[in-house]
Amino acid sequence: MASLIEIRNMCKIYNPGENEVRALDHVSLSIGENEFVAIIGHSGSGKSTLMNMLGCLDVPTSGIYLLHGSDVSLLSDDELSDIRNQEIGFIFQGFNLISNLTAFENVELPLIYRGVSKRERTNLAKEALRKVGLENRMTHKPSEMSGGQQQRVAIARAIAQAPPVILADEPTGNLDSHSSQEIMNILKQLHAEGRTVIVITHDNDIAANAKRIVHIEDGRITSDSANEGLSRDDIAKEIRGNSTMYGEEDSMQLPSEDDIRKENEEAYISQTDDYDLDVKDETIDLHLIGDKQNEQEE
Ligand SMILES: Nc1ncnc2c1ncn2[C@@H]1O[C@H](COP(=O)(O)OP(=O)(O)OP(=O)(O)O)[C@@H](O)[C@H]1O
Ligand SMILES: [Mg+2]
Repeated sequence: MASLIEIRNMCKIYNPGENEVRALDHVSLSIGENEFVAIIGHSGSGKSTLMNMLGCLDVPTSGIYLLHGSDVSLLSDDELSDIRNQEIGFIFQGFNLISNLTAFENVELPLIYRGVSKRERTNLAKEALRKVGLENRMTHKPSEMSGGQQQRVAIARAIAQAPPVILADEPTGNLDSHSSQEIMNILKQLHAEGRTVIVITHDNDIAANAKRIVHIEDGRITSDSANEGLSRDDIAKEIRGNSTMYGEEDSMQLPSEDDIRKENEEAYISQTDDYDLDVKDETIDLHLIGDKQNEQEE
């Protein structure tokens, strides 16, 4: 069966010519129905560019995008717009709500554009707001709500017509950690209901909520793997506790973070008594050297 999303050898070059930026460099990616994928990378790595391609908001310079098996480049503008409206719910970092409309009106607006009857859109908008826990905030305007609540309105708007795909670009970028987790819990719930959820983020903790993590660097996919449900902290704890997870032999080879830090500090102290920083043991953590140097200079 064809994947829901199939990208093959996609390139996106901005400003072709001397100052060109290769934002996507031969990216290939398949995403099946009901996957929960995080696309993670540093600022400028090409995440939003990839999201724009996935969401049919922009066209690639080269390569193929098959959505439900059909080649997106062959579709007319109207057909693309239909796909965006029916297949994809967008969530953005900046919420993108209309400030003089209430929460209810913000969720209802795209339904008006789609020609949904008054009665049906009232039901859909209320149901979507209820789902994100905002049944008591329907008549509030964005300025009367917290950032987390505004993002929940934006999610309600994205899911009101039950699109099969949710595309979220840094959905928690403007939120504190508590609100971020609330938003991620809603996305998890949508995944559990059968939607395909794609979250773009630069934050490891946010990515840890997904079932699959794709790393992008300089416009290239550098890794793509199932998330076993352990954050880096969890793994560090497992190692420190000599969990059976790694077996006895492996745990012998994996020193704890504390051990590494101590070893580095000792190595640093023994080698920098005379400030001879040229002699560096491989085990010295360069960050520690930087910190120590700053301390010395102060
Ligand atoms: N419209 C544009 N014109 C020219 N260059 C662009 C354009 N949009 C993005 N770029 C460049 O393409 C590269 C990828 O940008 P993109 O916005 O996809 O990164 P990102 O991973 O989303 O970064 P961030 O985490 O900061 O949002 C960057 O080098 C950026 O400067
Ligand atoms: Mg971006």
